[in-house]
Amino acid sequence: MEKYVVVGGRPLSGKVRIGGSKNSVLTLLPACLLAEDACNLYDVPNLSDVENMLQVLSTLGAAIKKNQNSLTVDAGRLQFETVPDRLARSMRASNLVLGPLLARLGHVRIPYPGGCLIGSRPMDQHIRGLRLMGAEFTDRYGCIEARAKKLKGAEICLDFPSVGATENLIMAATLAQGTTIIHNAAREPEIVELQNFLNAMGAKVKGAGSNTVRIEGVDRLGGAEQVVTPDRIEAGTYMVMALATKGQIFLENVIPEHLEAVTAKLREAGARIQEENGGLWIGSPRRLKPVDLKTMPYPGFPTDMQAQVMALMTLVKGTSIATETIFENRFQHVAELCRMGANIRLEGRTAIVQGVESLSGAYVEATDLRAGAALVTAALMAEGASIIGNIHYIDRGYDQFEQKLANLGAQIMRITS
Ligand code: UD1
Repeated sequence: MEKYVVVGGRPLSGKVRIGGSKNSVLTLLPACLLAEDACNLYDVPNLSDVENMLQVLSTLGAAIKKNQNSLTVDAGRLQFETVPDRLARSMRASNLVLGPLLARLGHVRIPYPGGCLIGSRPMDQHIRGLRLMGAEFTDRYGCIEARAKKLKGAEICLDFPSVGATENLIMAATLAQGTTIIHNAAREPEIVELQNFLNAMGAKVKGAGSNTVRIEGVDRLGGAEQVVTPDRIEAGTYMVMALATKGQIFLENVIPEHLEAVTAKLREAGARIQEENGGLWIGSPRRLKPVDLKTMPYPGFPTDMQAQVMALMTLVKGTSIATETIFENRFQHVAELCRMGANIRLEGRTAIVQGVESLSGAYVEATDLRAGAALVTAALMAEGASIIGNIHYIDRGYDQFEQKLANLGAQIMRITS
């Protein structure tokens, strides 16, 4: 079991390059299954979730070539329609092969997907949309199985702008007969990137980034290439860590507009943030102010940044309030932060953070990916050393985490015990 040992109290300083977005790659890779020719992706982060998705693709018959941060995926000879149980359980995003396989092969079988335990994360929106497009589902032995000779265009209104359902339905609709319209679609930058990639393959997708996406089905899709967009959550995490340590850092390879909700919240807390040469400077004031936040679908404040900002607020004088509206079980970091001396009270979906004078190093455990990032943030602020267990969660979403932090001056070490 690997763990991090972190000694707090050192301000972060210097430059950090942000890698390609985990959530984008986890959508672009399944999209490659739609193409009859090879696709290339560049600036692919080295993450365990990406590794798992590549294994999913190769068990389905796709040929994969890797060269550092570039990938070629050739799904020309796609032949299998079943995702193995072990891989489906390893991550939620395995459900994103549902739409592409159904569109391409007319048949798919996936065990119910796993991933971080941050809520029940049902798939009803994916299934309802695909049913409207003519797919027939059976749900047996813990597997979702779907069949459709040829999907048909449909008008779909999502109950909630689910990121995964929007992505699955767009992908399925690219090869359907006729036009599909998705109302109340998710508007995340990952959806826009997916649209660009699919259109480069020959698809006809319009409207991504707004809440209505329109897809005209085509007969076949060919190869395409895409540089993966920078990871807005990785960027936001380092911004919070810079503030937490009263440091000043420069982030290279970011798209500031993808970070607007996060920069607005951090500015409200007193952060100095400035765009320069395609990057962002972030520096801490002498004293931060408490802030309230409420997680919302994009362009609102991202649920994937809630835990890190909460960790930051534990040492800010006054009361901050965090309300989680996206996932019902995303406060597991609260108990661990309290072990380090934080004063946080939970009331349903709201966490009330009362700033304390100091945190002290402790043994804590990551309970999901972003909870892990929050605990490292707290450990960087704490007095003394902390040990963070379950860091396999952190490896799912942060490429070269300890190297990047060490380059910024943090004292962090990975140990095996
Ligand atoms: C994606 C991101 C994840 C992020 C989340 C919300 C990837 C790989 N993961 O996850 O990092 O935290 O968006 O921004 O891109 N829901 C239903 N029924 C459905 C689908 C979803 O009730 O059919 C609910 C979920 O339980 C959850 C909420 O909708 O409460 C949001 O889920 P969704 O937007 O689908 O998130 P993911 O695509 O799983």
